[in-house]
Parts: sequence; structure tokens; C-alpha cells
Amino acid sequence: MKDVKRKSVGTHFSMCVQPAFIVGTNNEDGTYNFAPITWVSVTNEKENDYLLVISMFGTKRTKQNVIRTGVLSVNLVSTDMLGLMDYFGTHHANDGIKDGISYDVSRGDVIDVPILDASRWIYECEVVKSVELGESTTFFCRIRNIQIDEQLECMDTFDVNLTKLEPVIYSGMYHSIGKLLGKIGDFSE
Ligand SMILES: Cc1cc2nc3c(=O)[nH]c(=O)nc-3n(C[C@H](O)[C@H](O)[C@H](O)COP(=O)(O)O)c2cc1C
Repeated sequence: MKDVKRKSVGTHFSMCVQPAFIVGTNNEDGTYNFAPITWVSVTNEKENDYLLVISMFGTKRTKQNVIRTGVLSVNLVSTDMLGLMDYFGTHHANDGIKDGISYDVSRGDVIDVPILDASRWIYECEVVKSVELGESTTFFCRIRNIQIDEQLECMDTFDVNLTKLEPVIYSGMYHSIGKLLGKIGDFSE
């Protein structure tokens, strides 16, 4: 490891390394809507009560649907779903239904939300708290169910090989991840 020579560049570089998700919501007329959301993190209330922390900007349909219904699906985007994510992200529900690309949709097992059949890791969530800051709303979303690809072999929640899930990582550009490096403790004394 060598020291890095850095320069200060102000605040306009807002790049943050983000895993990519597509959020599924229910429209008012009973149809569904999907949009990519990468401002996603996690927190833990107690023991096994994990919450996703999801931020949405502006007045987009996805945000309005979450505020109105309090439920959403959070579908991890694998590299084979890139076309789907790019389509959903470059089209706005208020301009018309997003049917310019083919994809299959089911309903959640625990919460009545639309989920993407192509996704290999899906959270079914319920909003328990919202925080507004300027034009953004951050939703604290209780995870009510997680659906994972049957072919994934996980011993426990920390034993997930991301190279098998092939998540898309977003930084303003789309990336895939490289190698599995090890686990906690492997690199310290
Ligand atoms: C890769 C990617 C990530 C995005 N992440 C977010 C996000 O975290 N929060 C947000 O408010 N909008 C985000 N967007 C923008 C929305 O996905 C976009 O405005 C979309 O068209 C909204 O769709 P809707 O009108 O159906 O809600 C992202 C777009 C892309 C392409």
C-alpha cells in the first residue's frame, strides 16, 4: 500500500460508489412502475430488524407512489439487467407507461408490490419513517421479506459471493465487480 497524493476539488464531484437497484411501486390505477434508485443504504434497528435507507429526489412517480402507498420492492440489478435499468431510468412514468422493453413481473410473497422476475435478490419493504431534506425524501424501509435466487448457495447473510450475483455498481457510469477478496479478519493480524 502506498500513500496517495490528493487534491481538493470542491464539492461538485458527488460521485459515490453505489450498488444499483430497481424500485418497484404500485401506481394509483393499479398498474406497476419501475425505476432505478441507487441512493440505497442499510441500518439496523435491533437484532435482525434491518432497514433499507432509500433516498429519492424531486417529484418522480416512484417517489409519489412510495409516499402514497408506503410499500416498495427493491430489486438488485445484475449485469444482465442493464438494458432494463437503463430503459427505466431514461423514461419517466408521467410521460407514459414503461412498456417499450419486455420484462416479466410478479407480486411480492409478503407485501403486495410488483417485483422483477429477472432479479436475483429482492427486498419487499414497508416504509416506517420518512425524512424530508430540501427536494429529497429519505425513506427508512423495514425489510419484510427477501427473495433470493434458489441457485445461490449462502450459509448465512454474510456468506454471499457477489461475483455470483454480478451486481451493477453505479458511479455516474455503470460497472461490474471483479474478484472476491476475502472476509472480515482475513487481512489483519
Ligand atoms: C443508474 C440510475 C440511478 C438512479 N438513482 C436514483 C436515486 O437514487 N434517486 C432518485 O431520486 N432518482 C434516481 N434515478 C433517477 C430515476 O430513476 C429517473 O428519474 C426515473 O426516470 C424515474 O422514473 P419514474 O418517473 O417512473 O419514477 C436514477 C437513474 C439512474 C439511471
